[in-house]
Amino acid sequence: MIIYQRHLENVNWQEMKATLTQDNFDNSRSPEQLQASFANSYRTCIAYAGNQIIGTARVLSDGICNAYIVDVWTFTPYRRQGIASQMMQTLLNELPGQHICLFTDEALEFYQKLGFKKGETCMEQVIGKWLENNG
Ligand SMILES: CC(C)(COP(=O)(O)OP(=O)(O)OC[C@H]1O[C@@H](n2cnc3c(N)ncnc32)[C@H](O)[C@@H]1OP(=O)(O)O)[C@@H](O)C(=O)NCCC(=O)NCCS
Repeated sequence: MIIYQRHLENVNWQEMKATLTQDNFDNSRSPEQLQASFANSYRTCIAYAGNQIIGTARVLSDGICNAYIVDVWTFTPYRRQGIASQMMQTLLNELPGQHICLFTDEALEFYQKLGFKKGETCMEQVIGKWLENNG
């Protein structure tokens, strides 16, 4: 049975980092940076199979008009079982009236099934160096 945890108590951030690394979805955050980025999010969802972290999704939002979805991931052995869809739907239900944006290069069908349409524009920059901050 998969549990979808909505709070951040007792999350093993070292384990999350290790599983992300094993699954080639680590973006270089330390366990402490992972914790801070989840703690600073508007909503989060972490999927567990038993005690093991096997999925994540989180939202940055102002709670009124704009939201940005990040860290959508299901551990490879658990993919195609509806886990990411469940995490996303849970988060989307808590964002009524908001414009939601996300970046993806290879999961178009996944997001289209959830109602997303491809946008036309994006401008971006990293201030200084990626992950160099006092988080
Ligand atoms: C994309 C990702 C989050 C999907 O997780 P998941 O738990 O397997 O997703 P679901 O089981 O809820 O998939 C629902 C539907 O999305 C579509 N989908 C999911 N993965 C897909 C893939 N690799 N290729 C094509 N369609 C896919 C399918 O239509 C699927 O329905 P189906 O299994 O009945 O055919 C997962 O593959 C992943 O973690 N990928 C690496 C990280 C990533 O790319 N994240 C998103 C970009 S930020």
